[in-house]
Amino acid sequence: MALHKDEIALDVQDLHKHFGGIKAVDGCSLQFPKGKISGLIGPNGSGKTTTFNLLTGVTAPDSGKILYNGENLAGLKPYKIFRKGITRTFQITRIYREMTTFENMLSVAGLSIPEREVRQRAEELMDFVNLTGLRDEYGGNLSYGQQKLLEFSRALMTDPDLILLDEPAAGVNRTLLVELLKHIHELQEQGKTIIIVEHDMNVIMNHCEKIFVMDYGVKIAEGLPEEIQANKQVIEAYFGHT
Ligand SMILES: Nc1ncnc2c1ncn2[C@@H]1O[C@H](COP(=O)(O)OP(=O)(O)OP(=O)(O)O)[C@@H](O)[C@H]1O
Ligand SMILES: [Mg+2]
Repeated sequence: MALHKDEIALDVQDLHKHFGGIKAVDGCSLQFPKGKISGLIGPNGSGKTTTFNLLTGVTAPDSGKILYNGENLAGLKPYKIFRKGITRTFQITRIYREMTTFENMLSVAGLSIPEREVRQRAEELMDFVNLTGLRDEYGGNLSYGQQKLLEFSRALMTDPDLILLDEPAAGVNRTLLVELLKHIHELQEQGKTIIIVEHDMNVIMNHCEKIFVMDYGVKIAEGLPEEIQANKQVIEAYFGHT
């Protein structure tokens, strides 16, 4: 069923991005529901990260619209999109290994609040993800899962409304994963919209209310977890490729 305009956080219309002959995103339309956790899935190379890059200005689309609060974000620079309340984490974590946890938190540029409040917010967010005990530890000394938690909490420094997570569960141990999922749900309860790209089907099926499936740059299905699990085209995309 189509969502009402007010129920859509991000309305992606007919997005295209080609790299030479590779149609990474090939006419994708996605309506992400506001205040919910959505999943974006698909086999390797299906265009998920490219879609995130287009939504966050890391890559400019060839064509298509990205409507957010009535404004088209397509082609805007990352810092402009980020100032509008959209944030993300990366598939390959981008924390500073030679900076401490706290310094990493403070490394977010362009915050429009006073220094003292920036430090206070950093402390609160470290507390939120239980990293306070590692405050003065170098990023490079954190476990892989802790580095992902750090990147996640750093992404929240801007107090975003829309949070895009690219493979948050990959390489994270079960204990930290349970933590991370708890934080994701807490953010949703605060009214934020979350979109998760993930290969871990337990995370997707148990934690996302709506799922979008990509294959070869196009959306092949969308629906509730049980609908996606029963969808023949989705099963074919995952297991049918030779
Ligand atoms: N900068 C680039 N230059 C050329 N080709 C690219 C570039 N970025 C992505 N691609 C290609 O676009 C396609 C989609 O890649 P993308 O990284 O978006 O896939 P993905 O769904 O995130 O895959 P994975 O699950 O493996 O992370 C792939 O064929 C990839 O090789
Ligand atoms: Mg990817």
